[in-house]
Amino acid sequence: MNLVLLGAPGAGKGTQAKKLEDEYGLAHISTGDLLRAAVAAQSELGVKAKSYMDAGQLVPDDLVIGLVKERLAQDDAQKGFILDGFPRTTAQAQELATQLEAMGIALDAALLVEVAPEVIIKRLSSRRTCPSCGFTAGEETKTCPRCGATMYQRDDDNPEAVATRLTAYENQTKPLIEYYTSHGLLREVDGDRPVDVVYASVKDTLGL
Ligand code: AP5
Repeated sequence: MNLVLLGAPGAGKGTQAKKLEDEYGLAHISTGDLLRAAVAAQSELGVKAKSYMDAGQLVPDDLVIGLVKERLAQDDAQKGFILDGFPRTTAQAQELATQLEAMGIALDAALLVEVAPEVIIKRLSSRRTCPSCGFTAGEETKTCPRCGATMYQRDDDNPEAVATRLTAYENQTKPLIEYYTSHGLLREVDGDRPVDVVYASVKDTLGL
């Protein structure tokens, strides 16, 4: 299965992607995780991306598209993938379609995880993230239950950056709902329920 996950920051895309990865062995391709790794490695791309990310703005399309192209070409992605946080603009969606066509791969669905903004602000202010595998949980989780690393608070999980990320989602990413609807690929789940209930609904919606 080849899947795009859509949804506002904090909707639970990463949480659901990790569950699909663990159960079905799909490659979890998170552009946020790839960019944070580039920032940590202080690569040329990471240095360029950091100021956008800290402010909660989208990183320019050309930087992100190159990163995803490289990742999609890796072996594990050939068995199926979940794109988490990509595409985020219409230009990225069009580029992805072109790239997948060239690779002879079809998308099975674009799954929208829907959560109201007030719930999102609450979730992100208390979120802790694993620096090693990207697992996320609430602030009570100090050690990653997946890999044992010490959880940390992301630099962009502060009120100003969260507000900017929500605006970027509204203005630049939400149009993709229409884009994928028009391609007959959009599916939707209510993300404002307990994690396992949302996951059951994700599997049901995807026919897994
Ligand atoms: P990215 O890392 O993609 O961040 P995001 O989209 O803002 O998404 P999040 O990781 O914040 O949320 P999520 O939906 O994965 O939620 P999670 O599962 O963690 O991007 C970061 C930055 O990188 C961007 O701002 C941008 O600068 C740049 N970037 C990335 N991709 C880009 C692109 N394509 N183009 C340009 N720039 C790009 O859950 C959130 C919290 O809620 C967690 O604590 C979790 O435990 C909890 N939770 C999850 N589900 C539930 C539930 N059902 N009930 C209760 N709590 C829940």
